[in-house]
Order: sequence, then C-alpha cells, then structure tokens
Amino acid sequence: MSTNSTSTERVKIFDTTLRDGEQSPGAAMTLQEKLEVAEFLDQMGVDIIEAGFPISSPGDFEAVSEISKLVKNATVCGLSRAGFKDIDAAGEAVKSAKRPRIHTFISTSPVHMKHKLQMGENSVLEAVGASVVRARNFTDDVQWSAEDATRTEVDFLCRTVELAIHSGATTINVPDTVGYSTPQEYFDIITMLRNRVPNADKVIFSTHCHNDLGLAVANSLAGVLAGARQIECTINGIGERAGNAALEEIVMALKVRKDIMPYATGVKTQMLARASKLVSNVTGFPVQFNKAIVGKNAFSHESGIHQDGMLKNVETYEIMRPEDVGVHESSLVLGKLSGRHAFKDKLESMGYKLEDAAFLDAFKRFKDLADKKKHVFDEDIVALVDDEVIRGHDTIVVKKLKVETGVGVEPTAALTLSVAGVEKSTWKTGDGAIDAVFKAIREIYPHTATLQLFEIRAVTEGTDAQATVTVRLEEDGRTVTGRGAETDTLVAAAYAYVNALNKLLVKREKQAPEALTVAR
Ligand code: KIV
Ligand code: ZN
Repeated sequence: MSTNSTSTERVKIFDTTLRDGEQSPGAAMTLQEKLEVAEFLDQMGVDIIEAGFPISSPGDFEAVSEISKLVKNATVCGLSRAGFKDIDAAGEAVKSAKRPRIHTFISTSPVHMKHKLQMGENSVLEAVGASVVRARNFTDDVQWSAEDATRTEVDFLCRTVELAIHSGATTINVPDTVGYSTPQEYFDIITMLRNRVPNADKVIFSTHCHNDLGLAVANSLAGVLAGARQIECTINGIGERAGNAALEEIVMALKVRKDIMPYATGVKTQMLARASKLVSNVTGFPVQFNKAIVGKNAFSHESGIHQDGMLKNVETYEIMRPEDVGVHESSLVLGKLSGRHAFKDKLESMGYKLEDAAFLDAFKRFKDLADKKKHVFDEDIVALVDDEVIRGHDTIVVKKLKVETGVGVEPTAALTLSVAGVEKSTWKTGDGAIDAVFKAIREIYPHTATLQLFEIRAVTEGTDAQATVTVRLEEDGRTVTGRGAETDTLVAAAYAYVNALNKLLVKREKQAPEALTVAR
C-alpha cells in the first residue's frame, strides 16, 4: 500500500454515531440527547451527520427532521433501504436541512442476497437503479451503499456501483459490514473499483468499516490511501456488535501521521475529549481506560522510566499533546463562594451553552455540590452539567430519597417519584440499600425490565468524589442504559435506574419491528 497523493487533500468525516451507533443494543438516545450530540458534532467540524433511519420509527423520523432544522454547517443525512417508502421518508425528514443527503443501500453479497433479501442479481440491480433515481427527486446529494461489499463478488460489485453512478449517486460507500476485511484487501477493493468502474472519478468513494476483528480504523485508513475521500465513523467507535471505526482515532491518525497520510479533516481536534464524554454519558457506554485518544489512561505515564523520560522531554513518550485532543490537567475550579457569574464563565470556557432555566438548575446543583464537596474540579462540572442535560426532559423524576442502612439495621428506602407530574411515595426494605431503592422504584412504577448491569465509578479522587452510576435494563429484548451522578452513591443509583426507565419509555414509542430487522 502506498499513498497516491503528494499534497494535502481533504477527507470528509461522515459521523454515524446517531444512526449506526445509536442502534447498537443499549445505546438508545432521547430526542434531546440526539440534538445535543448533533449540535456538538456540527460545532466540532464534522462534514456529514447521519442523523438516523427515518422509516424505522416516528421517533427516528422526528429526530432526523429536528436535527435537519438545527444543524448549521454539516450535511444532514437520512438512511433508507431501497424501497420507495423508505426513500420518501428519508427525503421528507431531511428536507429542512441546509445540505440534505439521502443514503440508500441494498445488500450485494451472495449470502445477503440469498438469505436476507431472497433476491437474485437482476432484481438487486433493478432496485439499485430505481432507488438512486427516486432519491435524486429529493436532493442532488445521494449516497449509495453496497451492503456487505467486502464479501461481494467483484464483477457484480462493479456492475452495481456503475449503475448507482449512472443513476445519479454522488457518493459510493463500500461497507465492510461484518468487519471481515483486512487493510490490504480493503485497499485493493477501493483501488479496483476506482480503476474498473466507468465514471468512478465523478464520485467520492467512502469507507464504512466495522470493528469485528479490531481492524476498522486500519481498514478505513487503507481505503483513504487507495483514494477514498470520505470516512464513516462514530464517536468512541460505538455501533453494531464490536462497533465502527472510531472518529477520534481516524482524525488523530491523519493529523499525527500526515507525513505518510497527507489528508486533512475539518475536525477541531481539541473538542474530541468532550465529544467522547458526551456520547459516553448519553449512551451510558463507558470508555475503556486504555482506549486510544480518549481513554482515561491515554496520556498517563505510570512507570518510573517513562515518567523520567517525560520530565526530560515530553517527546520521549508522547506522540501528540493531550491538549490537542482537549485533555487538560485536572484543575481546581470553583468553591462554594463562587457566584453565578464565575460559574457561567467557567461553563463557557468549557464550551457549554445552557439555556436560562437549565443554567439556573445547574447553578443550584453546583452550589449543592460545593456545599458537600471541598474541591470542585472540571470533571465534576462536566458530570453535573451532562447529568442535568440527561435528566432535564424525563417523565419519571426522583423527588425524595431517604435510606436507612448499617450493621444490625434492615436496609430501608423511602422514596418519592414524580411520574408524569404526579407524585407517588413508598418505602421498601431490601438485600442492601441499593436493592431497597430499586424495589421502591419498581413498586411506584411497575415494569418487567430486568437489571443487566450496575456499575459505579468515581468522577474524581477522594471520598467526597461524585459517583457516576450506570444501570442497564432489558425489557422484551430491548436494552437501554441509564446514568446518574451525585456525591451520594445511592442517590446516583436511583437517578441512573430512573434515567434508564425513562429511556425505555422513549424506546417503547419508537418500536418498528420491520425496519429494525434490517441488517447494518
Ligand atoms: O454496515 C453497513 O453495511 C451499514 C450500511 C447501512 C451502510 O451500516
Ligand atoms: Zn454499519
């Protein structure tokens, strides 16, 4: 593999966190959360935001429409299968976007055509042409994907791509749907398509690599070396199964190794750490400590030899500066005497813009926190504000919680919840305080969801640290993840459980079994 370019060319970043990422089990986001993420991605300089799969549910349709109205710079894209109903829904959903795109796809591999579509080659070819033409009625910006391209027979792949271009597609996406390819193989596929397909030079080739073998980022970069100029990726690499190529890794690899990959992106890299936290918070998916670029340990040097080298010259063990990805030394921020003005300045310096009501609420919670906690750090502010955003639009809200526990005492929780504005109270005993709290929630708001995961993490050091609790619930095969942050672990646990229940309510509204069976 070698680069086919000498000067710096632009590679477009196509973010599919809100589509491929959001539909992975447990990653469901509310409308408010999706808007938050989309706005952040737009500000960060992502070129294309795939906002959802409009036909899959009224909730997805609404999210794509609202994101289309909100986003200022990026292209907003809606996904659709090859059917006209799908395409029309995607076209309608992105119609308010400044730059609307429809992304239509159909499987082209023998295994998918036979078992999933039960269609032969001719019917698939017919669907390719018809779907792209239909999509072009809504917008000039049409992306076509050959699902499972990397397991597709090459002559047939060329015929489908040729037809898609002939029918009006402007971007051709080559998904490694099952994460089966290797860098050399993926490089060869993109090269082959660019060399063999008539008019290949009139379109942009795009990568879409899944991470089943841990090769998603490597394959995507190989695709760029072969001439692809769009990379599909997600924040923290979330997505189906093992996920997609991680946006932060792609962007930083291109930046740090521009000596051998002279391709620029429009992403403001200093925002990557916050993007990672935001997506982790709204999905409840923790970021592994040793995750490249955004993991907690990505810039920590533990061994004596490394620390010694770092003190002499940071380049001994650091290939990029933490501040380039938005990681800063933990700093002491505000105390309990800090006023509204100082809090607002701090939020703005951290990139937060809150509406008046949300700001007042956050300020009140900051004051409460500063009363309980001696030192308030940047991380505390992030946890507090993100928690505010997460819980701001919930149907079920924790109003009061009193827990009695200890040695020789039966753990008891007295709880008041507001459910759609109506307050209800109960008390319960349990096998431990958390069990009592969760039983009380179940009594006030009966449901059949089962607890799949319960995890507690400290936001900062010290016994007065805020706890971030993650709760995963499963109901009828659907999984959601909730999160809560508080200095009191039991309160954080109640917030997290209730947050997950709220997400289940949203998911109940959004079920569309037919569309959700579509393989991605
Ligand atoms: O993985 C995949 O093939 C997809 C397509 C819909 C692009 O997500
Ligand atoms: Zn995918």
